[in-house]
Amino acid sequence: MRSVRVLDRLEELYAIGGGPGANRVGGSAEEQRAHDLAAAWMREAGLEVDVDAAGNLIGRASSSRVWTGSHLDSVPQGGKFDGALGVVAGIEVIERVGAGAVVAFRDEERGCVGSSAFVEGRPLPEVFVELHIEQGPVLERREAPLGVVTAITALARGERVFSGEVGHAGTTPMKGRHDALCAAAEYILRARDAASAIDGAVATVGTIAVEPAAVNVIPGRVRLTVDARAPDRERLDALLRKLELDVTPLLEAVKMADEPRQALAAELERLGLPLVELPSGAGHDAAVMAAAGVPTAMLFVRSLNGGVSHSPDELSSKEDIALAVDILAGALARLAANPS
Ligand code: GLV
Ligand code: MN
Ligand code: MN
Repeated sequence: MRSVRVLDRLEELYAIGGGPGANRVGGSAEEQRAHDLAAAWMREAGLEVDVDAAGNLIGRASSSRVWTGSHLDSVPQGGKFDGALGVVAGIEVIERVGAGAVVAFRDEERGCVGSSAFVEGRPLPEVFVELHIEQGPVLERREAPLGVVTAITALARGERVFSGEVGHAGTTPMKGRHDALCAAAEYILRARDAASAIDGAVATVGTIAVEPAAVNVIPGRVRLTVDARAPDRERLDALLRKLELDVTPLLEAVKMADEPRQALAAELERLGLPLVELPSGAGHDAAVMAAAGVPTAMLFVRSLNGGVSHSPDELSSKEDIALAVDILAGALARLAANPS
């Protein structure tokens, strides 16, 4: 019954951007509509609703500082579960437990904007547990509905600009051209090779802007974005050097804390479910909380369809989601009864 309400609410959020996929980019009117809906659901659950200076939405059942939550923004044409599941399920769980708070952070996808502002404030939660779709194939391959995260990868983002010489596509000989897009293309292939050479590292050029962008003009300027990740700071720094990016990491690699991890493990055992532990290659608001010193854990729900994510094909089953709500509620109840 309750999992049906979670699924109905996920559908309602998913419909906001008009499709295809979820379209609630951070800072947009669509993200705001999602926050308005979630605020109404929090009130319906009897929670006290508050919006902080950064626009993060908080629903409190009590003054206990045992928190859960995630984000309501999405990538363009994103999936139904990324972020939204942790907020919608979090409202159910906090209502059920009758203690603690659920938070919907702003603008996670473009760089954990809301959670980064949140951790500047005090007091911070005593413990934070984020429920999230796995966004990868591990749990599906292990035939496990849920997983407990061990650590979250380090992440940096930067921009590179390539300058060339604009010219006529028909009259400028190939020899002697300075085509900015050719230089950018060589860089993109070098980035692929650099990440492939470092164990556990990944690099992605996800946006590219060409000027003046005409079919018969040699490109004079290209700007592209790079997303670089590695399991620890040492490997991230090595990757950034190879990518010629002088940027400060957006997220440091962080380990999840023992106490909330153990609370999740105890609940999995109570329900006779396997304990599968796995690292997260995706960034999360949980990483910001952990880096700020909040004891933090994450519960992953199995992704289906081979783990595809940041795509409308992202999928989890209603049975797995119902289990996740039970496990999260049990773990938060344990933590609320025993604040560290
Ligand atoms: C968030 O989804 C990220 O890891 O980019
Ligand atoms: Mn997410
Ligand atoms: Mn995401």
